[in-house]
Amino acid sequence: MAVALLSKLGYTVVAATGKVSEESYLKQLGASRVMDRAELSAQGKPLQKERWVAVVDAVGSHTLANACAQTRYGGVVAACGLAQGPDFPATVLPFILRGITLAGIDSVMAPLARRQLAWDRLAKDLDPAKLEAMVEEVPLARAAEKAAELMAGKIRGRVVIKISI
Ligand SMILES: NC(=O)c1ccc[n+]([C@@H]2O[C@H](COP(=O)([O-])OP(=O)(O)OC[C@H]3O[C@@H](n4cnc5c(N)ncnc54)[C@H](OP(=O)(O)O)[C@@H]3O)[C@@H](O)[C@H]2O)c1
Repeated sequence: MAVALLSKLGYTVVAATGKVSEESYLKQLGASRVMDRAELSAQGKPLQKERWVAVVDAVGSHTLANACAQTRYGGVVAACGLAQGPDFPATVLPFILRGITLAGIDSVMAPLARRQLAWDRLAKDLDPAKLEAMVEEVPLARAAEKAAELMAGKIRGRVVIKISI
């Protein structure tokens, strides 16, 4: 979603993934470049070369710490997930020396008015064809199979379980 939205807004987007086989899919969504997420997941220095104007992070842990350490002066990092872990092994250096902002993103308790704003932006900024490419629909009978694939890291995008009555 972030790749599709930010590329549409004119940003040069770098997508980090563990699935290097999905490079062409991510480029089709709008990524200019695809990097191996292993580059970001190990412990790094507290302040690193400035690489990003902003980061959307669904991963947490060392990846989030490295994202902050590589964000350029005045940039913003959005923390929205913990796929790698809930820890945040970072220092205050990117905050006090580069003035970066760490923005917490919550979709569970977000008030309706804020959701409405987000939905309006999605309606305007998200290409429906790209949304189609991200979603796979399967019948309820295949839910367990898809759940196992999800846990094995073999799912791309979203799986919608169709419940037929
Ligand atoms: N902020 C909120 O309100 C909110 C709401 C719902 C969920 N969440 C959190 O947001 C995160 C993403 O949710 P999702 O539904 O998009 O999950 P998801 O479909 O499982 O996607 C998570 C992605 O993270 C990457 N990943 C998995 N393990 C990783 C690891 N050890 N290190 C680095 N990257 C890893 C994988 O990308 P690749 O396969 O491309 O490498 C995976 O596709 C989850 O942590 C979830 O708990 C937050």
